[in-house]
Amino acid sequence: MPNRVRPNHARPLRRRPLLHGLLVTFAGLSGLAPARPVRSARPELLVRFSHVVTPDTPKGRMALHFRQLVAQRSAGRIRVEVYPDSELYGDEDEFEALKLGAVELLAPSLSKFGQAGLPEFEVFDLPFLFDDLAQVRRVTQGPVGRRLLDRLARQQMVGLGFMDSGFKQMSANRPLRALADFKGLRLRVQASRVLVAQMRALGAEPVVLPFGETRSALASGVVDGAENPLSNFLTQGLDGAQTDLTLTRHGYLGYAVVSHPRFWDSLSAADQALLRQALTEAIEFGNRLSAELDRQALEQVRRLPRLRVHELSPAQRAELQRTAQAVQLGFERRVGAGLLAEVRGAIAPTTAAGD
Ligand code: LMR
Repeated sequence: MPNRVRPNHARPLRRRPLLHGLLVTFAGLSGLAPARPVRSARPELLVRFSHVVTPDTPKGRMALHFRQLVAQRSAGRIRVEVYPDSELYGDEDEFEALKLGAVELLAPSLSKFGQAGLPEFEVFDLPFLFDDLAQVRRVTQGPVGRRLLDRLARQQMVGLGFMDSGFKQMSANRPLRALADFKGLRLRVQASRVLVAQMRALGAEPVVLPFGETRSALASGVVDGAENPLSNFLTQGLDGAQTDLTLTRHGYLGYAVVSHPRFWDSLSAADQALLRQALTEAIEFGNRLSAELDRQALEQVRRLPRLRVHELSPAQRAELQRTAQAVQLGFERRVGAGLLAEVRGAIAPTTAAGD
């Protein structure tokens, strides 16, 4: 595998098959690891970290920071290999890869845990639930977040922490300010029932697609629009496939960093502590960056000559917010009202300021 990041839209559809990853698991430490640059010292422990976004996103930068911290603190004994941009595994196969031992770390968006048997994580997808990142952190960094991470064990995962990407904006080839604008549009969503319900409530037709296929689906007209934080919108080159971006800020996107108990429990207590500490610091670094990169990206999209950027009036925002009500009722039926009440309790008292 070449050690460079291909533009997302140039990526071949097929990646390294899972079987290959499995072979790597057993062969990795005896020098048969994937065709990465040859390094002189052989590490005692290899940690492969696969994710779907580019290295210059908050998550991509967090993963690289983690790699650096681990290399320094273990004096090269533990090597983290980061595979960004769905180049090793993508939305369709990354959970399976973790289960089979083909990778040791993932950081899927919270929206993707429903398909892995944990629908409660879709609470974060509820539209207009959070006003700002401070509210999100009161949930993810408090007892509710702790309990959610613990629940990952039910699906053979070890939850190591939450990280923010940011708030999502809507894009299409027309403004999306009022419900009437959404009518009939096919909009790409992640594999989350809440997001599917959200798009239906808005009057659009949701199309579930892997992240790595979003740009080509937009460029070829398979879908008409998408929802993304600005960092993903820009780094995937979606401004080349969409003419209009509406600053809806209607929903949150965040991640959970997960490992597999077979790998995690095989580590010494000292290595677990080293990896945990490095990850905590890397996530703090990533979170500081996500807010800053979002601000920079907003300036950048406003300067793009081909892209029209639209704001919502208070009345338009209120109309979209009303649609959220139905989605929340559907979620309560599926997951139970208890978790939503806990999340609301952690959010309150609501803050007026943006993050
Ligand atoms: C998406 O599929 O839109 C996101 O989950 C991608 C990501 O990991 O930020």
